[in-house]
Order: sequence, then C-alpha cells, then structure tokens
Amino acid sequence: MVKLSIRRLGRALLATSASAALAVGMLTATAATSQAATQGPCDIYAAGGTECVAAHSTTRALYGTYNGPLYQVRRASDNATKDIGLLNAGGVADAAAQDSFCAATSCVITVIYDQSGKGNHLTQALKGHWPGPAEGGNDNLANAFEAPVTVAGHKAYGVYVAPGTGYRNNHTNGIATGDQSEGMYAIFDGTHFNGGCCFDYGNAETTGNDDGNGTMEALYFGNSKGWGWGSGNGPWVMADLENGLFSGVNRGFNANDPSVNNRFLTAMLKGGQNQWAIHGGDAQAGGLSTFYNGIRPTAGGYNPMKKQGAIILGIGGDNSNTGGGTFYEGVMTSGYPSDATENAVQANITAAGYNSGSTGTGTLTPGSRISLQATTAPCCTSHYLRHDDADTKVVISSLKSASSATDKADATWIVRTGLADTSCVSFESANSPGQFLRHSNYQLYLNTDTGGSSFAKDATFCPTAGNSGAGMSFQSANFPTKYLRHYNYTAYIASNGGSNAWDSSNSWTADTSWLVTQPLG
Ligand code: AHR
Repeated sequence: MVKLSIRRLGRALLATSASAALAVGMLTATAATSQAATQGPCDIYAAGGTECVAAHSTTRALYGTYNGPLYQVRRASDNATKDIGLLNAGGVADAAAQDSFCAATSCVITVIYDQSGKGNHLTQALKGHWPGPAEGGNDNLANAFEAPVTVAGHKAYGVYVAPGTGYRNNHTNGIATGDQSEGMYAIFDGTHFNGGCCFDYGNAETTGNDDGNGTMEALYFGNSKGWGWGSGNGPWVMADLENGLFSGVNRGFNANDPSVNNRFLTAMLKGGQNQWAIHGGDAQAGGLSTFYNGIRPTAGGYNPMKKQGAIILGIGGDNSNTGGGTFYEGVMTSGYPSDATENAVQANITAAGYNSGSTGTGTLTPGSRISLQATTAPCCTSHYLRHDDADTKVVISSLKSASSATDKADATWIVRTGLADTSCVSFESANSPGQFLRHSNYQLYLNTDTGGSSFAKDATFCPTAGNSGAGMSFQSANFPTKYLRHYNYTAYIASNGGSNAWDSSNSWTADTSWLVTQPLG
C-alpha cells in the first residue's frame, strides 16, 4: 500500500511539474538589429519579399499573429487525438495541454501544422522506395515527449526523429518546383545526429523515389560522409540535392563547411538559378556564418535544378530512414531570401529564448539532473549508477567529489517524462545526449532510441517507495515485477527470486533501492 501511495505521489509530482564565431566569416550584409516583439520569422521573410510557403514548429508561433494549432498528438490508451495550440497569439506552445491529454499513457506527434495558410501540413511519411518500420512500410511517428525544451521560459516539445521516423507532404501548395528559387531554415538539436541517410528538412520528390540529381533541395544535418562532408569530424549542415549531400560546390570534401554542434543550431539553405548558399549559427546567441555561397555543383544534373516540391522531415527523398536528429521549427520560402533577411530571422530566433531547461535539482521532476546512489551495505553505499565508457553497459562504481569529471558525468542522468507512460520516468544520460537507460534481455544499457514502442517501454521506469524502506525503487514499465537492480556491480531489471542469477533474493530489497541525489556531474 505504501508503495502504491508513493507511486501516486510521484505521479502527481510529475504531472504538476510545470517546467522544468563559428569558424567561418560572418555574413557581410547588415543584420536588422531589432524587431517588434510581435514579429515571427515569417513576418520577416514576408517583409523581405520572400514569403513563407510552409512554416512548421511544435514549439512556437512563426508569425506574430498566428493563433492556430501547432501540432496534433495521438495517445496510445484510446487512439484519441488532440491539437496542441499556443499559450497566446504569436507565443509559445501550450505544452501543458499535451501533458494532461497524454497523462498516464504515451503520445506520438501525428500532424505538424503549416502555419503559412498554404495547407502544407506534415504527416506520417508513407512507404517510399525504401520502406519504413511501421505497418505497411510507412515510417514511425515521433514520441511527443522525447525532445523537451523551454522557449522564453515555457516548456515545449520538439520532434525527436529516431531512425525510422519520418514526416512528409507530397501534395503541397506554393513550394518551389523546377529551378524556382526558395529559402529555408530549421532549428535542430546540434548534439543529436547520426551518420545515417538522411535527417533532412525541405524540398523533395513527390513520388517517394530517387528521381535523379537535382530533384531535391533540403537541409541535411548529421555526420554522414557517404556523399559529402566538411572540416573536422562533423556533424555538418549540408544540402541534400539528391544523390548527394553537398557541403559546397564539390562532391566530397569542402573545407569551408565546419563541424557544428550547438545545442540549438540554426541551419539555413537557399537555392536559385545557378546559385545557392548554406548558412549556420547558434540559435541561442550571435549571428550567422557562411558555410557556402556560390554556383551550383559542377557535377552533372544539378543545374538547372528539377525540384518537385514535396516536403520531408527526418528522411531522404526516397524515404531513406536511417537518419536521426531533433527538429524544433523550420520554414520554406518562395523566392531567394536576402542575407539581410536571413540575419534578421537569426536575430528573431536567438531572441526566442530556446533552452534545454535541465537543472540540477536532484528530484524526479522531468528536466532535473540527478544521480542514483546504491544503498546496499557494506559493499556499495559509495556506488552510483553510471554508464561505461568502453561499452554500452550500465554498472555501479564508487564515486566521490574528487572523482574525474567524466566518471561523475557518466553517473549523471536527466529525468525525462516516461517514454512509454507519462506517469513514470526515463533517464537520459547527461553526457551522451539522446541516449537512454534501457533494458535488453533484462540487462541495462545506454542506447540511442531506435524508435517505436518497444524501446520506449524498455526505457521507462515507474518510481515506487524503496523496496527496502530506503530511497526509491524503479519498476520496469513492461516487466512490472522487475525493478532496477545492481548485481555483481552490473545493472539489471530483476524480480525478487527467479531463474536469472540477478533475480537472487539475497539483498534484493537493498539492491533495488536507490537514493535520488543531487547530480554528481
Ligand atoms: O542525396 C542523398 C540521398 O540519396 C537522398 O536523400 C535519397 O533520396 C537518396 O538515397
């Protein structure tokens, strides 16, 4: 009974917790230094003569007067859907509406509405040349809780694209086709990327197939070296022009495209008649830098372009879906935006106030940074749950304030709303963003989300009163008789007695009881 009431208390606490000079030269055009508080990026593009024809965001309005829905979520418990709107016109998303609609279940993002009025909404990408992992070969939908942030101090959620996740619109209105000019920007999480193909946002084929060189023009973000790359080890902002991720005029290496990994990253691309440019910057502060500005690639097929005008998010033009990343907002324009307009948009973005919202409160509130201290005496009371650096295992080891910064960071976790049950929690590594504590074959690992509901369940733990009477215990969401346990200094989910060695009843209550402490790292 105590266990249940503590769990309810935990649920209540979770439910009410309200929030929790890049290397290359600066653009030469003069930036607008201020905008009216009510302006959004699309007001700025319109003033520059290059209106938005698609405007997607799950975090904020992209026009000063926009007051419609940002996105739609669907909950697992009954498949009901709900539109998530804004706190006020031109403002930030009403994340609390998502929290209450999805309470004690899980939600996916089903629609990302187009704020431009053109009706260019993004929905689940259907099977293309490459099938996705969902039913019918379609792509997965994003977990609605996996990319929490704050914007101007208010909680909001981004679109977390695990590999296999994708959104698309093949029937658009007003998007550039052929060799017509367009611009686009997106805000990504610069710490969440991979080398798969292709975490994109922008213009693609309406067929879902690879229709040849020049049939796409989309922003790419990641560290793929399959086609092109820039300086350093990546990740890079590149242009996906089909059969090629371009970091500059050449196929392959272009030294001027730097590695960029700002927590919030502005990525910009524009393309016109035999000209195109990539710009990037920190979405929290400062201006834009030019990563490329010049003629179309000299490789055959990219001049003139043959854009088809579909919109993709998280995937390649042919539905290649092994890329991963996080998207917060993005727009596409009609016409080739000036550098001055793009600089003014960057000023608007940095003024929006994106923040990761994670604080070291040492409580089980989503966004809080914590450490988990073992309670088993005499072996382990100085030990903390941490991930290994040499492999993906999760273990306990003895740590103190004088331990290395890496060891302490390895033992620091960011509490997240439970990926499979919003009344429970998930634990994201503080020093390996996008990687979660999850069990596989009952052993605990630190892994990047592979998408879908299985990973979400394996990474969700429901807090209860400590099984020994001390601290807290963490029940596996999909194996409720099993709790997070250390056994022989390795972490498992374990029942009190059972066929596996780590299910041993000896010390089970102590081994499954943890102190939630201030973060070590
Ligand atoms: O251009 C890179 C990728 O190549 C495209 O996104 C995809 O359509 C093709 O496989």
